[in-house]
Amino acid sequence: NIIPVIMAGGSGCRLWPQSRALNPKQFLPLVNEQSMLQNTVARLDGLDSVSAPLVIANEDHRFLVAEQLRQMERKASAIILEPVGRNTAPAVALAALKALSQKNLNHKGKIEGEDEDEPLLLVLAADHVIQDVDAFHRAVEVALPAAMDGKLVTFGVVPTHAETGYGYIKAFNHRDHKALKEKISEEQVFAVQEFVEKPDLETAQGYHASGHYYWNSGMFLFKASRYLEALKQFRPDILSACEQAMAVQNPDLDFVRLDEDAFKACPDDSIDYAVMEKTTDAVVVPLDAGWSDVGAWSSLGDLSEKDEQGNAVLGDVLLHDTRNTYVRSERQLIATVGVDDLVVVESDDAILVAHKDRVQEVKTVVEQLKAEG
Ligand code: GDD
Ligand code: MG
Repeated sequence: NIIPVIMAGGSGCRLWPQSRALNPKQFLPLVNEQSMLQNTVARLDGLDSVSAPLVIANEDHRFLVAEQLRQMERKASAIILEPVGRNTAPAVALAALKALSQKNLNHKGKIEGEDEDEPLLLVLAADHVIQDVDAFHRAVEVALPAAMDGKLVTFGVVPTHAETGYGYIKAFNHRDHKALKEKISEEQVFAVQEFVEKPDLETAQGYHASGHYYWNSGMFLFKASRYLEALKQFRPDILSACEQAMAVQNPDLDFVRLDEDAFKACPDDSIDYAVMEKTTDAVVVPLDAGWSDVGAWSSLGDLSEKDEQGNAVLGDVLLHDTRNTYVRSERQLIATVGVDDLVVVESDDAILVAHKDRVQEVKTVVEQLKAEG
């Protein structure tokens, strides 16, 4: 049995002005008429022995999560609400603790009095695009035996450029990308030799050029108890804060609430730094499924259909002598003349104009706006 854990507590600030504190990107219909969260839930259809998803999000977004699931006529197995964001290492810990408590499992992951194994957690981000859902399902199936065997499974994507916003995974047995591609068709699982989260540009360029590294897709498959064991080994401070935060009565049936003070005291760290970089039990399953992380506006441009000049547009847009530009209009006509390599995004109350190579820095604008109140 697999319990999907959907992490939906990020702020998505690089997609400003569409993505806002009260309505961040995972709840927006960015690539089709469904929100990113809804796409993530729908992508599980057809995968064998999967239970209802466990969603973990910020308290401010509880009605958004509940309403978006209701629209799809789905139910979550639980919605865990964080009073503050503490990044993904704690989020996954809360989900693991919840999954074990739901099943009355003991700390070894065995159901009391029974021999049946505990469920596996399929940890998913709420903001990914996967074009080939069948290939995604196959990768999960390939990963199953390793996860049941106690491994922490990552899904590796063959890099297309030296991106600094991702984790990099070096697997044993790999010589070059051609070999990587061939292994994909053989559907194998490889031991991880090295996991490096968000390297600097020079390092990322070296990794990309070497052909020895995958990108970490940010999805994982493992036993809840194995993740908690690893956390206990590497970050016992995070584990104990999460245990304390979960140790409250939950009269509210729809939502799992935490002890606010205990969770606020939890250190902030991602699963990648806290566990994946440190563990020797990681394996990687290659994923060739048209995966992409909708991190910044350039990725949305890349995902859209382009004209002969490399432009992608949405809404009421008129281009003249314009190349490699992404324009997204919500209400007004946008016209561009004689420009290259821009991102132009309009929303109800703000307009973004950025150079394509600088869209990661939209984050800085948002931070400045926040500071100014
Ligand atoms: N519940 C909860 N709480 N969810 C969170 C929190 C939090 O505090 N912080 C982030 N998330 C959710 C986001 O909404 C997103 O769905 C997912 O967790 C991943 O977080 P990101 O902040 O988007 O991570 P990233 O993109 O910088 O890096 C991760 O993903 C990359 C691939 O997309 C890492 O796993 C990288 O190694 C990986 O390459
Ligand atoms: Mg991301």
